[in-house]
Amino acid sequence: MTTKILQQYIGAAPVPDRLAAYTPSLAIKLAVLYPEQGDSLPPQQLAERLGVPLYQSIDSESPEEFFLTWRDGCLKLLDRELIKKGGLTVDIEPRNGEQRSWPAPKDGALAQALGRKTRTVVDATTGWGQDSLHIFRMGYELLCIERSPVMAELLADGFARLAQQDWMQRLNLHPPRLLQGNAIDLLGNLETQPDCIYLDPMFPPKRKKSALAKKSMMVLRDLLGDDQDKKQLFEAALSATGKRVVVKSPDYAEPLGGKPSQSFQGKLLRYDVYLKG
Ligand SMILES: C[S@@+](CC[C@H](N)C(=O)[O-])C[C@H]1O[C@@H](n2cnc3c(N)ncnc32)[C@H](O)[C@@H]1O
Repeated sequence: MTTKILQQYIGAAPVPDRLAAYTPSLAIKLAVLYPEQGDSLPPQQLAERLGVPLYQSIDSESPEEFFLTWRDGCLKLLDRELIKKGGLTVDIEPRNGEQRSWPAPKDGALAQALGRKTRTVVDATTGWGQDSLHIFRMGYELLCIERSPVMAELLADGFARLAQQDWMQRLNLHPPRLLQGNAIDLLGNLETQPDCIYLDPMFPPKRKKSALAKKSMMVLRDLLGDDQDKKQLFEAALSATGKRVVVKSPDYAEPLGGKPSQSFQGKLLRYDVYLKG
């Protein structure tokens, strides 16, 4: 089993499995770039952990499509369009309209789907961490799982920045725990059954390029492809959960686990709830 617990501080992270071992086709797609300023050790360690090349700069000949580097104090993922400026990072700021208090009120379709009595949640498909961070800010006790080592590095950086926020320190809060590995394996080995397991796997898009898709999600799809094993993930989640599984789906997709016990409608998406019998 390919499990590594990423420490909340990236410098202290143990060496995760090399990217090439995770999926050979990804290894040629990604390189680490030295940042314009700063310490050269973190990029060297990151390239070593992921088993990918480390470049001073990119020339048009380099075969990689994606790059990791530090900009504005954050670890960022770049595609060729973002090389000149910008980059995608784990955004730790509350979403538009979300109350800036902790815990934020448990309202909206996501909170309804998680359930009024739920206390502990496992997000088994953490991705960019946006749902996880929303769940965390509502005050649930949260464990995050992500199988892509690249996304896990970006999440570890985001969670380390979260730990430094004034409000986190004032309230003596710690970022969610992060496990890197396949949730289909990891969910069977949890120490305690969570009240809820949350799933947001990658579904095939309705149209090839949707004008509505966010850049971060388009890049994630280009980097990782669709999650072909989502039915197995659903089965693993249903047997590992204490009370319920919540699946976030685009509104056009068939429910992942057959007819759900309940469904809550969000904007262009649905939260299907499966209660454990
Ligand atoms: C659509 S994204 C999730 C987006 C996330 N909800 C957010 O708010 O940013 C799906 C993510 O789940 C991860 N994933 C899919 N299947 C997984 C599995 N079996 N184990 C762990 N991670 C998985 C993928 O690597 C990808 O990063």
